[in-house]
Amino acid sequence: MTAYAAAFNSTRPGVTVIGAGAMGCVLAARMRERGYSVQAVLSRSRETAEALAQAVEARVHSEKLHHLPPETRLVACCVPDGALAEVALRLSRVSHPWEKTVVFHTSGALPADVLQPLAEEGARIFSFHPLQTLTTESESSVLDGVYAGVEGTPPAVAVGIELAVNLGMRYLVLSAEDKPRYHLAASMASNFLVTLQALVQNIMLSLNIDRATAQEVMAPLVRGTLDNLSTSTPEDALTGPIARGDLETVHRHGLALRQHFPHLVPAYAALALETVTLAVRSSQLGAERAEEMVTLLNKLVTTPIPASFAE
Ligand SMILES: NC(=O)c1ccc[n+]([C@@H]2O[C@H](COP(=O)([O-])OP(=O)(O)OC[C@H]3O[C@@H](n4cnc5c(N)ncnc54)[C@H](OP(=O)(O)O)[C@@H]3O)[C@@H](O)[C@H]2O)c1
Repeated sequence: MTAYAAAFNSTRPGVTVIGAGAMGCVLAARMRERGYSVQAVLSRSRETAEALAQAVEARVHSEKLHHLPPETRLVACCVPDGALAEVALRLSRVSHPWEKTVVFHTSGALPADVLQPLAEEGARIFSFHPLQTLTTESESSVLDGVYAGVEGTPPAVAVGIELAVNLGMRYLVLSAEDKPRYHLAASMASNFLVTLQALVQNIMLSLNIDRATAQEVMAPLVRGTLDNLSTSTPEDALTGPIARGDLETVHRHGLALRQHFPHLVPAYAALALETVTLAVRSSQLGAERAEEMVTLLNKLVTTPIPASFAE
């Protein structure tokens, strides 16, 4: 641990949170619970800044960045990715002891460098991306044991690691180059799960089963799968007709898809091919049956959809 990080550990620095949205609310609440003094909340609108400032008993709230308290030593930029560069530039023009201040942002996709104007004023910068999905209503406990992707210069990363540990989180140190791939993985893990459930509901809707019922019907299956995934590898968690090498069932699925949801054929085939690979890796599917499955799936994509289906 660097001396700088150690200094941070012994007395937790005064914090200003910029951006009183989902991330700002959860992080500010967690910081306060864990002994950080949240001195100010700055946001685009005074109202949201005030609401969060009240919740975490911050003395200052404002829509103006120059109201950053001079005694703040840690600034959490929790604004949308698209606003970060502009906020960093405007913040760097605020008169502040930047050489004694650490600034981080919470974007998963962008590197710490987006805060470069602040680094040029002497601030240490890092990115700190909690791998969790948050809303303004989320309890701060959703951060329990959650990993944060931390990236920046080594001394700043040391501060990020301290922050993660102090907040009861875990950490993953990343390079700037790694971040887009890391964030791709995180987005796929969360967003595509949601998209898949929406597609499942569309299919159920076509059977006259409303969305709420479809959600209720599928919930135990989805929960059971997620439970399996939390204790086993994807190879071990995989079940179903592709893993069993059941060509007839996969053929029937393909026909139903082509007839009722032809636009989903490419996405289905791509995921099914990845499932074949997984099934082979898990030794559930032998090479010969896997070949047959791949041929079937390729046919599904390359066979023209009859005009009567596509109407
Ligand atoms: N939410 C998540 O699940 C999640 C997870 C991991 C990482 N992140 C990252 O966290 C960051 C914030 O995301 P979020 O979900 O919290 O977004 P959000 O709910 O939309 O909140 C963003 C906040 O930033 C404020 N803001 C916007 N432009 C601003 C500006 N120019 N100056 C000052 N404040 C400004 C908004 O202010 P007003 O409300 O005052 O208008 C809003 O409160 C993003 O980088 C995102 O990628 C989010």
